[in-house]
Amino acid sequence: MSDMEKTEFRLPEGIPAGGRGPESSVDATQQVADRDMEVNLRPKSLDEFIGQPKVRNQLDLVLSGARKRNVTPDHVLLSGPPGLGKTTMAMIIAQEMGSSLRMTSGPALERAGDLAAMLSNLMEGDVLFIDEIHRIARPAEEMLYMAMEDFRIDVIVGKGPGATSIPLEIAPFTLVGATTRSGMLTGPLRDRFGFTAQMEFYDTADLTRVVVRAARILGVGIDDDAAAEIASRSRGTPRIANRLLRRVRDYAEVHGDGHVTLAAAQAALVVFDVDEMGLDRLDRAVLSALIHGHGGGPVGVSTLAIAVGEEPSTVEEVCEPYLVRAGMVARTGRGRVATALAWQHLGLTPPPDAPGQHAV
Ligand SMILES: Nc1ncnc2c1ncn2[C@@H]1O[C@H](COP(=O)(O)OP(=O)(O)OP(=O)(O)O)[C@@H](O)[C@H]1O
Ligand SMILES: [Mg+2]
Repeated sequence: MSDMEKTEFRLPEGIPAGGRGPESSVDATQQVADRDMEVNLRPKSLDEFIGQPKVRNQLDLVLSGARKRNVTPDHVLLSGPPGLGKTTMAMIIAQEMGSSLRMTSGPALERAGDLAAMLSNLMEGDVLFIDEIHRIARPAEEMLYMAMEDFRIDVIVGKGPGATSIPLEIAPFTLVGATTRSGMLTGPLRDRFGFTAQMEFYDTADLTRVVVRAARILGVGIDDDAAAEIASRSRGTPRIANRLLRRVRDYAEVHGDGHVTLAAAQAALVVFDVDEMGLDRLDRAVLSALIHGHGGGPVGVSTLAIAVGEEPSTVEEVCEPYLVRAGMVARTGRGRVATALAWQHLGLTPPPDAPGQHAV
């Protein structure tokens, strides 16, 4: 089976979760259960999608406009940290347009031929979702330019001097690309998307709605203050909110009647190593490496990654965006710096030159 066949499917069949995230502290069976849960909890329409008001409004306009003119919508790029709903949104776009969704990912498109096979199988109006599009190989990327712009590709047949290029028409389609690293996209590729949606971290009110909705679907009784507590500790991320809900439910079932109260939520979050700011073990390890290991920085991401035993991309894509948004880490030209808030979070007195010293 080729990569394409493995990763491609049509709604409403099986939905690969495609989720990565700070899952290092979770065992394999738990990960499988979490993935099943993700599938059940995915909102299926724009109306059901909580939060991201800006992206939702903009997308609504793009899709309604296309529907009105009876054309396929412009290509859409979804960018933002893991677990904020990019894959979910791609599925919703197909659903809202009543079209089929075909899924693949940048790393699966190693050769231009992989992409050519995928593109030539598209039917008019299909949505092609390429996850992690910043990792697409160069020849495939170049083929994508033409496909996106002119709905046509050149297929090279043969090798060496005898090779010929055969132009091939492809059906008008909508490309939805997702990336956690929009900065790594080349200019020409970025320019070919008609609309870029920047997914932001969720505020606590929206995440509380995510938790309440998930609890309803899972049949878990939960108090409002408990839902708000879980939401406030979820790093602004629905995937984490859903996962914490599940862990808290386990706790409430073992230590009580299964109903989630504020006390149960707080006790469970202590057990699972989530602190009051929502930082998990890896986040705290990064802060600790930055402060204890390097006097608060500046220090490069790769040095931090080695110190915590993770890939630099994990530190950069998973930990750092939230630490920056929480005001604990600042990016500077010379590397990452711990802010006064970070020092205080670890129970330390910040040095006078720590950024944010007077702001806190
Ligand atoms: N707006 C939302 N409302 C309710 N639940 C949501 C929302 N957005 C995401 N979720 C939940 O969070 C989970 C993760 O979302 P999703 O897989 O779409 O994230 P992603 O941005 O594609 O992450 P990654 O970059 O890791 O692929 C989903 O299974 C869904 O249950
Ligand atoms: Mg995804």
